[in-house]
Amino acid sequence: MKESFHYKDGRLYCEDVTADEIVATHGTPLYVYSRQSIEQRYRELDDAFSSVDRLIAYSVKANGNLSILRVLARIGAGADIVSGGELHRARLAGIPADRTVFSGVGKTVTELAAGLEAGIYSFNVESEGELWQLSQLATTMGVRAPIAIRVNPDITTPTPHHYTRTGHKETKFGIPMADAPRLYRLAGTLDGLEVKGIDVHIGSQILEVEPYMLALQKVLELSEQLRAEGHRLEYLDLGGGFGVSYEGEASTPARVFAEALLPELRRSGLRLVLEPGRYILAPSGILLTRVITVKESDAKSFIITDAGMNDLLRPSHYASYHHIAGARLHPERDRMHADVVGPICETGDFLALDRDLERVLDGELLAVGTAGAYGFAMASNYNARPRPGEVLVDGDTFMLIRKRETYDDLVRGELELLD
Ligand code: LLP
Repeated sequence: MKESFHYKDGRLYCEDVTADEIVATHGTPLYVYSRQSIEQRYRELDDAFSSVDRLIAYSVKANGNLSILRVLARIGAGADIVSGGELHRARLAGIPADRTVFSGVGKTVTELAAGLEAGIYSFNVESEGELWQLSQLATTMGVRAPIAIRVNPDITTPTPHHYTRTGHKETKFGIPMADAPRLYRLAGTLDGLEVKGIDVHIGSQILEVEPYMLALQKVLELSEQLRAEGHRLEYLDLGGGFGVSYEGEASTPARVFAEALLPELRRSGLRLVLEPGRYILAPSGILLTRVITVKESDAKSFIITDAGMNDLLRPSHYASYHHIAGARLHPERDRMHADVVGPICETGDFLALDRDLERVLDGELLAVGTAGAYGFAMASNYNARPRPGEVLVDGDTFMLIRKRETYDDLVRGELELLD
């Protein structure tokens, strides 16, 4: 099968449609996703773990567009949610509640109640307070709350930025391993709770297998201890975090993670829950942006684009790398060295720094790669900029799955407050 994003005769295609054609209809900045890629990457992950009973709960935070959730729901994905809003999205998209896990370090009582109301598969509980609140709520509502406790395995995870490491004990996430048995005992005695599993999530954009192995060993030891104490465990949630290639570096296929983890998992007899986001979506999307102008001086050159940090925050927030190239290739041109920057009034507003690329001219179209995850999801209206549109390509057709915001959208919710 050909790559979902590829060049043919010097033109960038998503599946069978050119970037030029999509932009002619829907303008820039614009997120463009490949349905083929989303389905392929979900299936690759699902197939890799197919020898155990499993729930692949797509992490909605990576990209919560309803059409994308629907594509995933149709091929059997569940959802990993972290807010009432994500629950709302997952339900609207038709992801069954009993295939939904509710993660997050701070869930409000309203959000917990919504999860109970919907009848979700499990709550990943992250504090003693949450156990008490959930118990009280479930009792009042006359239901039982299925739970796992998210443990913190105290592992330093090699992720490109420390903001996306969550497995070491200094983070706000999870319960220290040493406290876990006590909290499971407490959960076993509280009304309205049903202990079902153990949860761990060590970070995001992880390309090594070892941290997962370490985390798995720790949670399996805990599972044995808990079983010996009489808890009936049904599943193990190993979270998300599987990394992708941003700079052309070697990435680790799902199969490699699976081969390492499966022997121990099978022995445990526990159901496996995974919460992948980036692995499925990041390589399945690009951001198309138009060059407003190229500004060159002795000191530095800047390619100023119509997409900024409000559209794609990752380069600015995590110093992350995204490949950038023209939607048309011009091998006859010389190369240039420049920062690719947005129109926002901050020096921190950039898509790429010190980049060597084929010379680009005012008005040309650029594609920012590997932008399907944590791209639109983290977009904002900073500088009163409408958020971009989103398009889903399917073979030789494409459809708008989110309209570009308008100026009216920007002030909705404020206008009616005026006298
Ligand atoms: N489960 C939990 C509990 C999580 O906190 C996350 C991500 C995931 C699953 C999904 O992780 P993934 O498979 O996508 O790596 N905005 C950052 C990434 C933040 C990830 C937060 N939690 C970025 O753009 O790199």
